[in-house]
Amino acid sequence: MNFKVPRGTQDILPDVSWKWQRVEKIIRSICDVYNYKEIRTPIFEQTELFQRTVGDTTDIVQKEMYTFTDKGNRSMTLRPEGTAAVVRSFVENKMFGYADQPVKLYYTGPMFRYERQQAGRYRQFVQFGIEAIGSDDPAIDAEVIELAMNVYKKAGLSDFKLVLNSLGDKESRNAHREALIAHFSPHIEEFCGDCQNRLEKNPLRILDCKVDREHQLMKTAPSLADFLNEDSSAYFEQVKRYLDIAGIAYEYDPNLVRGLDYYNHTAFEIMSTSKGFGAITTLCGGGRYNGLAEEIGGPAAPGIGFAMSLERLLLALEAEDKAWTDEPSLDVYIVTLGEEARTTGFELIGRLRENGLRSEMDYMDRKMKAQMKSADRLDADYVIVIGEDEVAENVVQLKNMADGQQKKVALDQLLEELQK
Ligand code: HAM
Repeated sequence: MNFKVPRGTQDILPDVSWKWQRVEKIIRSICDVYNYKEIRTPIFEQTELFQRTVGDTTDIVQKEMYTFTDKGNRSMTLRPEGTAAVVRSFVENKMFGYADQPVKLYYTGPMFRYERQQAGRYRQFVQFGIEAIGSDDPAIDAEVIELAMNVYKKAGLSDFKLVLNSLGDKESRNAHREALIAHFSPHIEEFCGDCQNRLEKNPLRILDCKVDREHQLMKTAPSLADFLNEDSSAYFEQVKRYLDIAGIAYEYDPNLVRGLDYYNHTAFEIMSTSKGFGAITTLCGGGRYNGLAEEIGGPAAPGIGFAMSLERLLLALEAEDKAWTDEPSLDVYIVTLGEEARTTGFELIGRLRENGLRSEMDYMDRKMKAQMKSADRLDADYVIVIGEDEVAENVVQLKNMADGQQKKVALDQLLEELQK
């Protein structure tokens, strides 16, 4: 029997995993600077949580969820995104009572969506996301966007842009909804079954239908921008003002609607503009979700956040030809020749590691030449050679691989010498 990694998933192999760790390090250090604290929630939640928040009529809920019935006959779903669980936890753990508001949280972890596999689209992918819950100050919208932009900057990317829209408040969206229904209903029989269902339930979702994308009525559909009420427009102006203050350029796109139902006011995506990037150019998506906490039984707690997949960040680096090549190297490789030398080497390597030196030795009983080759491949800064003579004299040969210089060093002086 031949086993394969499931379609849409991937093994992160050791020659690549260090890049993931590096991205994770960047993320953690940025979150630290912006005072976001980590939250870890379960990989699965009650199915209803996602139906309620992400939305019954979205592609995610209708087509993409990994849902199963557990042994207690409960419907559970592998999380397709992180916001629902974070807000659930915010409500459940009464974080709205914390002295410091907004509560600023971040998370990284696998998410699951049963999507058609293509470049940059996986069925299991790792999202990094943040959520700032408890404030509707437009300055926090700008902070959240700035943090996302900084992740890409710190990772070394330069070909990306911010696309921004406002989805308005409930009143604006209702007015837009009525206009959409009036626009589509006379010809709704020309649309797919999904769209027909969406007409009354959530006509905005018709706009991201992949089947009817080319229908004439799609192009002439009323734009949300024309339905923003005064409060929504004023809010949007403030967000843009703060972005200007932060020196962040943006492109306004009134057609940016996002694929999840919980959004209102600010909506944004960060797109790769690199020519080498595949068809899916969205690196990061986010927005404001006032009302979400109430939707799942909590008190009013306006929030905003974003999520990005690490897969797409790494793909973007490759597309810009900025794939990191500086894999961390080894400090020391110990070459041992013979049984006694191996014992000495084994003792020594323990001491080196205790002192924080990244060290490796041979466990394959290979000849000197093969061991030296390993040291080379692992890019060791120093090679220590221990043979019978060295054991007898209580010394080692220390070779500096940068300049090829080799010298004899007493075993008890070695750490000091290396730390120099
Ligand atoms: P989303 O737009 O569904 O939003 O996903 C956010 C990001 O996750 C995308 O921009 C992309 O980087 C990544 N992503 C989504 N699906 C896949 C996939 N199949 N393969 C690889 N990467 C993928 C959300 O998930 C919201 N929870 C974001 C948010 C947080 N809004 C407010 N707070």
